[in-house]
Amino acid sequence: MKNRIYIFDTTLRDGEQSPGASLNLHDKLTIAQQLARLNVDVIEAGFPVSSQVQFEATRLIAEEVKGPIVAALARCVDLDIDRAAQALEKAKKPRIHVFAATSKIHLEKKFKKSEDEILELAVKGVKRAKNYFSDIEFSPEDSARTGKEFLFRIIAAAIAAGATVINIPDTVGYSNPDEFGRLIAEIRKRVAHIDRIILSVHCHNDLGLAVANTLSAIANGAQQAEVTINGIGERAGNASLEEVVMALKTRSDFYQKTTKIRTEEIIRTSRLVSSLTGILVQPNKAIVGSNAFAHESGIHQDAVIKDASTYEIMKPQDVGLESSRIVLGRHSGRHGLKQRLQELGYALNKTEIDHLYDRFLELADKKKEVFDEDLIALVIGDALQQEIYQLDYFHILSGSQTIPSATVRLRHEEKVIQEASAGDGPVDAAYKAIDRIVQMPVQLVSYSLQAVTEGKNAMGEVIVRVKQNGRNTIGRAASTDVVEASIKAYINALNRILSHETKHQPTETKHDNL
Ligand code: KIV
Ligand code: ZN
Repeated sequence: MKNRIYIFDTTLRDGEQSPGASLNLHDKLTIAQQLARLNVDVIEAGFPVSSQVQFEATRLIAEEVKGPIVAALARCVDLDIDRAAQALEKAKKPRIHVFAATSKIHLEKKFKKSEDEILELAVKGVKRAKNYFSDIEFSPEDSARTGKEFLFRIIAAAIAAGATVINIPDTVGYSNPDEFGRLIAEIRKRVAHIDRIILSVHCHNDLGLAVANTLSAIANGAQQAEVTINGIGERAGNASLEEVVMALKTRSDFYQKTTKIRTEEIIRTSRLVSSLTGILVQPNKAIVGSNAFAHESGIHQDAVIKDASTYEIMKPQDVGLESSRIVLGRHSGRHGLKQRLQELGYALNKTEIDHLYDRFLELADKKKEVFDEDLIALVIGDALQQEIYQLDYFHILSGSQTIPSATVRLRHEEKVIQEASAGDGPVDAAYKAIDRIVQMPVQLVSYSLQAVTEGKNAMGEVIVRVKQNGRNTIGRAASTDVVEASIKAYINALNRILSHETKHQPTETKHDNL
């Protein structure tokens, strides 16, 4: 096990602190199940004390998701630790992750507490958590800006109190690879009983160094990497899982470390997280960007055809990027659909398959070739629909010499309501007509449209982000008709607001007051 690096995924906790990310209970469970398929070692499911949704999501994941350790975050505060423990009650492998800030700047400006007072608090926190479970992680927040002597002292005290994992966060992304690597090496050398615990790192990306710092820490003795899918997270984000894992795999000659990650699940996980959070992946993003394996220059293309290793250091298949396969057509039956979805990792029950099958036939009628990506878009889209308002009919008038206008009819409970509106374009007109029906004032914050597969008849996926009472909610839909996808995405966002399932609750506390 000496060469094994543990992958601690914090997409659902730190990742969800990304500006604009908005996940409901169902989204979180779906992501956690995919993280289990990816075979991460630890899923940090949430910060249970911060809101009811965070608590419920952690509880649900602890109960439903088999395989990885499920961790919950808590400040060194009794209530936090007790809530984390309650949320983890049903987990097979629970871990409480307690943290306390240790840098001078945090002690003076945030807490007005001395080093000794914080050390006492940390020890009390670890001991209280230890009363619940055996696996306890302690993080001295802002470690990278903490005086070394105090950092070594508090780590030793946390180990003595029972911590099984010590995590060193570069909370504000301040460090650089040389310095951070040296810090890890010094901790290994100077802290008593450091070999009894797993030494972890958690790097933020404010200077674009999160992955480099994580890898340098690993080269210097860190055994666990805290990462997120697509590198999402607070401010500029966290070290990205896919980059850390593929760097270790591709350069195993250098790092001589392995992980248990099933790398062929990487692209699928990345797309799922992007779809559900509404945070798009930049095209040139390493490993998972749409251009990551695309060769544009003629010289490169020619060489890659002769031998891919000339310009490709990883095989696209290793991250799950197979060329799209035609899987099903309009003559495929329910059984074929169910089986292919199972192969893709989606186990649906009979009612879900029946429901999805109608939508599949509609799609297969419009589009002769149905690809894996289309199926996944259908499944996610179906799961996202919370049908308070349902689209019954729409008609759009648009052209170069016409004022765009839309007529939209929605079903709501037993009623069918129709409205029409003009607008700046067909989508704007349709959204105005929907606003007249639903009568719930929201602000459209962002709108994006991208093709799910290639070709003129590709499905278009629309993600909208709307704001209501300061709260962001995303809506998403896919269709071969981009206006239909736009209308359904907007209705989806409104339904999600109405169903009160979004994560932000009035009681929410971000982790900044201890
Ligand atoms: O960035 C940070 O310091 C954290 C801790 C809670 C680990 O997210
Ligand atoms: Zn963090």
